[in-house]
Amino acid sequence: MEAEARVILARAGSVETSPTEAALPEAELTRRVASATAIIPMGAHPVPEAVMAAAPRLRVIAVAAVGYNLIDVPAATRRGVLVTNTPGVLTETTADMAWALMLAVARRVPEGDRFVRAGRWQGVHWSLMMGADVHGATLGIVGLGRIGKAIARRAPGFGMRVLYASRRPDLEADGLRAAYRPMADLLRESDFVVLAVPLTAETRHLIGAAELALMKPSAFLINVARGPVVDEAALAEAVRAGRIAGAGLDVFEDEPRLHSGLLALENLALTPHVGSASRATRLRMATTAAENCVAALEGRRPPNLVNPEAWRAP
Ligand code: NAP
Ligand code: GLV
Repeated sequence: MEAEARVILARAGSVETSPTEAALPEAELTRRVASATAIIPMGAHPVPEAVMAAAPRLRVIAVAAVGYNLIDVPAATRRGVLVTNTPGVLTETTADMAWALMLAVARRVPEGDRFVRAGRWQGVHWSLMMGADVHGATLGIVGLGRIGKAIARRAPGFGMRVLYASRRPDLEADGLRAAYRPMADLLRESDFVVLAVPLTAETRHLIGAAELALMKPSAFLINVARGPVVDEAALAEAVRAGRIAGAGLDVFEDEPRLHSGLLALENLALTPHVGSASRATRLRMATTAAENCVAALEGRRPPNLVNPEAWRAP
């Protein structure tokens, strides 16, 4: 953890750092939190109720991410444990990653890199690695929240038409020149479908075989949201069969494992859930999580509380 975050946390007590940056096995996490008043997990690190039950002094789970789908929030609320996240500080960096994946898969950057490194490049050929244009294309954003809007804000520079699908029309969409479409229409019309929704019961497998079948064969799917928003087996089959042109994926259904069908495909750009991983943003995420944590431990309402029902003013 960043030194700046440690300085903030030191105001509230001693800090025990995990021996690994990866998720700890549940049994080990359970053992380590026995006397903890706070846990600061990454977004990809689960905190189930069994872990909370093993920490009788626990007052806050300060997630260092905006997505908190791996925290059992209802259980935390029942136990009076506050849950916080880090919205906003990673928005622009994650939007950059959506664009990186769009450009990479459309212009075949990972494939070209593999080709050159393998010594297969024999010279400049007319039809070598022809890809798709991003500029002038139609961008369909599913979930026009903080990250979705930041992705949309970048589109005018590429002369793109922007569509969005959402549960309700967004008042800021006009300013972004983004037009609302029902999901099926967005899938039919877009050249790039970008997912920026949280993972909820409603968004799990939001994109499956039926939705992929609505997309153009020339279109690309980009996922910077959460893996389970997409049925990965259906995606692998759609790309393999040429029903869509390719995909750019930062997140996967069962991280760090990938559906075996994906690995065999060339027309994918894959990154290991690093959408927010710029140095500056990781520092802001760490200090935001630390501020939330210390506020809770000092009896102040944390700025980014996701379960206000658990808040009891001292
Ligand atoms: P946000 O501001 O809450 O935006 C989420 C948007 O999704 C909201 O506009 C929400 O609209 C919409 N939405 C929710 N359910 C929907 C549904 N069923 N259909 C259509 N739209 C729906 O959150 P954010 O800060 O942009 O972050 C979005 C997600 O990105 C996070 O939850 C996280 O999982 C993911 N993320 C990933 C990375 C990465 O490293 N790849 C980094 C950061 C974030 P309403 O609720 O108003 O309907
Ligand atoms: C990262 O995945 C986040 O949700 O912040």
